[in-house]
Amino acid sequence: MIELTIDGIKAKVEEGTTVLEAAREMGIIIPTLCYHPGLSPYGACRVCMVEVVKGDHSSLEASCTLPVEQGQVILTNSEKVTRARKLIVELLLSSCPNSKTLQDMAANMGINKVRFKIKDRGCILCGRCVRYCKEQMKSGGIGFVGRGTSRRVATAFDVTPEECRNCGGCEWICPVCEKACMADSLIDGLCGGCQNLAPVETCLVCTGCSESVSPQGHKVY
Ligand code: FES
Repeated sequence: MIELTIDGIKAKVEEGTTVLEAAREMGIIIPTLCYHPGLSPYGACRVCMVEVVKGDHSSLEASCTLPVEQGQVILTNSEKVTRARKLIVELLLSSCPNSKTLQDMAANMGINKVRFKIKDRGCILCGRCVRYCKEQMKSGGIGFVGRGTSRRVATAFDVTPEECRNCGGCEWICPVCEKACMADSLIDGLCGGCQNLAPVETCLVCTGCSESVSPQGHKVY
């Protein structure tokens, strides 16, 4: 067993556990987007950032890919973490302005304006769909193509491959395309009000996330 401290609380977890899993076991909430418990960790979105304290120094690391270490000291909600997370969510929102998931996440963090140029790509390149297709469907029908700002998820030569079974899993697993925000106010600022519009109740499906669930179903971050 590995002993570590998260937000001042000491815990013992099994070797091989990630910091995100350890925190969730302890009931500590860390937001995630590209992480899914049924898929290999990828560390793409960085919203799960935590501060790893080593003596006088500290660094920001993605908790979903960070293995626990003996004596590790982790802060999940420090000023440094909060500032970095807000910036990341703002950047992601500029790529996916109509995602209700992102809008809710931003509202929870107190973000009410996106300072970056809005370029709606409808994708945050988190790779959840790509991993789902490969790891769960054993298909590999989609993948990343292009580089830099041209990077996107697509099929080879933009042709539907034989491997694709039209399962729809790539859309289902997407953390940002499931729910679209119906408001058109993003350019001027985030309303953050949609959380209050849908009737919500405490999520009973999983134990680790901060998400509420509407009668339409559960949303896994
Ligand atoms: S980098 Fe950890 S959830 Fe995306």
